[in-house]
Amino acid sequence: MNLVRTTFCIAMLAIPLSIHAQSNAPRMDEPSVLRPAGYKARYPASKPAIDRGRQLFNDTQLSTNGRACASCHVDASSFGAGFKQPYPHAAMNSKARFGVDTMNLDEVIQVCMKGPMRSVPLEWGSPELTDMTTYLLKVQSSGTM
Ligand code: HEC
Repeated sequence: MNLVRTTFCIAMLAIPLSIHAQSNAPRMDEPSVLRPAGYKARYPASKPAIDRGRQLFNDTQLSTNGRACASCHVDASSFGAGFKQPYPHAAMNSKARFGVDTMNLDEVIQVCMKGPMRSVPLEWGSPELTDMTTYLLKVQSSGTM
């Protein structure tokens, strides 16, 4: 009987915890969507970085909903008309949502990580964000995936 009661109590505790984990509210330790102060953007093009970025772009593990970036972005035109303009540029309703006139490429990646990927932004300066940004700069300049 005690075991049943204990199991029930643990289950009741777990429900709000799992609802919290699924919510899209920012975590205290979550990286910001916008570049942190003093961030040094360094995305030198190299074939290994571009190849790793392409792999991440196709990786469903990056999301919590089974999507990869490539689920929505199937070719260079799928990023919207603004993507062709050099960064930073006005994007993703940035003024209303983030209070900024323009966004950098690494920042719009973070918007898609949080929104459509239902995940958290990548760590600033991480190999993942660096490779992904390097890959998308290549897509932007070449017009091909
Ligand atoms: C559920 C669909 C979906 C997924 C998944 C998704 N995106 Fe997006 N993305 C969008 C939409 C919608 C836009 C806005 C397009 C527009 O402005 O017309 C966008 C815009 C962009 C832009 C261009 C922003 C600009 O105007 O300069 C980039 C770059 C981008 N996404 C990268 C990514 C990356 C990287 C991932 C994976 C981490 C990703 N997206 C995942 C839907 C998605």
